[in-house]
Amino acid sequence: MSTLSILLSEKTAPSKWGKDALLSFSEDTVTIHYQPEHRHGAIQRAARKLDNQGIKSVKLSGDNWDLESCWHFWIGYRNAKNNNKVSWAKLNKKDKQELKNRLAIIDWCRDIVNQQAETLSPLELATQSAKLISNYSSDISYNIISGEALKEQDYMGIYTVGKGSDRPAALLELDYNPTKNPKTPIIACLVGKGITFDSGGYSLKPSSFMESMRSDMGGAALVTGALALAIARGVNHRIKLYLCCADNLVSGNAFKLGDIIRYRNGKTVEVDNTDAEGRLVLADGLINADNDNPHYIIDCATLTGAAKIAVGNDYQSLLSFDDKFANQLLASSQAEHEAFWRLPLADFHRSQFPSSFADMANSGLPNTAGASTAAAFLSHFIKNYKQNWLHIDCSATFRKSATALWATGATGIGIRTLANLLNVLK
Ligand code: BES
Ligand code: ZN
Ligand code: ZN
Repeated sequence: MSTLSILLSEKTAPSKWGKDALLSFSEDTVTIHYQPEHRHGAIQRAARKLDNQGIKSVKLSGDNWDLESCWHFWIGYRNAKNNNKVSWAKLNKKDKQELKNRLAIIDWCRDIVNQQAETLSPLELATQSAKLISNYSSDISYNIISGEALKEQDYMGIYTVGKGSDRPAALLELDYNPTKNPKTPIIACLVGKGITFDSGGYSLKPSSFMESMRSDMGGAALVTGALALAIARGVNHRIKLYLCCADNLVSGNAFKLGDIIRYRNGKTVEVDNTDAEGRLVLADGLINADNDNPHYIIDCATLTGAAKIAVGNDYQSLLSFDDKFANQLLASSQAEHEAFWRLPLADFHRSQFPSSFADMANSGLPNTAGASTAAAFLSHFIKNYKQNWLHIDCSATFRKSATALWATGATGIGIRTLANLLNVLK
């Protein structure tokens, strides 16, 4: 079987292929026709069509393929089975290296998010994430705290959420310190939600909402991928990573509604919904991050269905009190051709989850804004939450069905943006 060559053309397709057709065909070639201003989207859409048609192997030919067109071809062509092959166009050395890094890191992220929960335990997630980053630098040290040790060391959010599972919960703490000096200040702490399966717990999810919940570790995969790509691109300041990993399951040992969690910073939280578990595990990671006194804190989490309802799968959602920092992220997202959208976060959201038995409850009052109250809950675990903190609600991480641009499953959107941001922070 010969490999199909893919050509790019700014000329419209001959009309026999349809009016303004995206694709035209000859014996051994397919030409993608696009208008210059729609180049990336057209290439991604064309690639998705080729996968849908069952074309398993292609060669990018002709001289107008550049790094971004190769990349957009790949993100459209790739599917969860990863059974397609591309022979790449010739790129300069720098672009070739960048493409190689993206293929390794962003595909890693898509694969681990797609992976069934049965084979990806909290400990596996923590271990594999540390391993990915170790591939890009020897200037890292890390520690995984898991199971009963979490309780002994007072990580009560992660411990409580995870205790209903036979598989121990885990906290990964990873330090990337290229200066090798333990006194070097930390520029940024990254915190990721790593729920390896979210059944909802006793506030059980209906099947149609539960089936995609193996992807509830997408925030952990995103921050891990972002740090790996930032290192591959040469970031030279100190960054720490915290992954809060647990299963959220039902059993005789699972946490229950009405249970109260006391955190290391003294705050108490009444569990009024076991399905709002992400904020409970993230709180432990954020307390650690905050105690490190970094210049910046960024957390990523598939935290709410509300963010998805607001922006669909087409944007990652950004929530922050800090306009300047938020705009820096949006500038990075533009530079990297990834879509983010800012959602509201205001002081009044911080008092919309009262409890009669504890400092706060873990879910918002009826008719409040789900993504905003979830972010506001997290702000209670950061002292100076008004500045230098971004929260990403990962609405674009996983698609339950395919679109014209994306296969079903994980997208990897956001890794480039965060890696870009990590490289510009000071
Ligand atoms: N992991 C879910 C959020 C989610 C749902 C992400 C669908 C992606 C797709 C989270 O743990 C959750 O269940 N959140 C609840 C919070 C509520 C109980 C306050 C939600 O959004 O419904
Ligand atoms: Zn949940
Ligand atoms: Zn969840």
